[in-house]
Amino acid sequence: MSIPFGIVTISDRASSGVYEDKSGPAIREVLTRWLAVPWHEAYRLVPDEQPAIEAALRELADDVQCPLIVTTGGTGPAPRDVTPEATVAVCDRVLPGFGEQMRAVSVRTVPTAILSRQLAGSRGRSLIVNLPGKPAAIEECLRAIWPAVPYCVELLGGPKLAFTSDAPQYHRPS
Ligand code: MTE
Repeated sequence: MSIPFGIVTISDRASSGVYEDKSGPAIREVLTRWLAVPWHEAYRLVPDEQPAIEAALRELADDVQCPLIVTTGGTGPAPRDVTPEATVAVCDRVLPGFGEQMRAVSVRTVPTAILSRQLAGSRGRSLIVNLPGKPAAIEECLRAIWPAVPYCVELLGGPKLAFTSDAPQYHRPS
């Protein structure tokens, strides 16, 4: 059975066609390289509007039942950046370690990484993770948290995932 993975790009300009979404495809590319299970993407492209972001996250968690939903964009301090607010609103619980780890790793390459308010949380059996909007941030942030993702997905009641040798080593406590 093919497992759905949620990819949500949050951008006023990409969603209105001003430019092409590069970050959503970057998430797809990384997952394609790392996942060794049959999977398909559930891709949504929404503007920086909290109700639209919440609706996409709810649908991907509740209806599509994605074990992992990765968002990109809308995490910064600009007035229209509301992805963390939308994520908190739909999550049952916040998992603060994900955001802490992504910022800790990203700040080594870009000082402005501290501007990202990216976080993660769970809604039912879905793990929702925010990434910044820059395409360059995608693999760096996913690598930073990947060691904990499979175990978290299992703890939430999701499927046991398998990975290619390209994926970062993950940790499963014995
Ligand atoms: N993290 C990584 N790894 N790489 C980056 O280039 N850009 C930062 C930060 N985190 C960046 C990063 C910048 S400049 C901003 S403004 C914030 O993410 C928020 O980006 P967003 O609003 O597009 O989500």
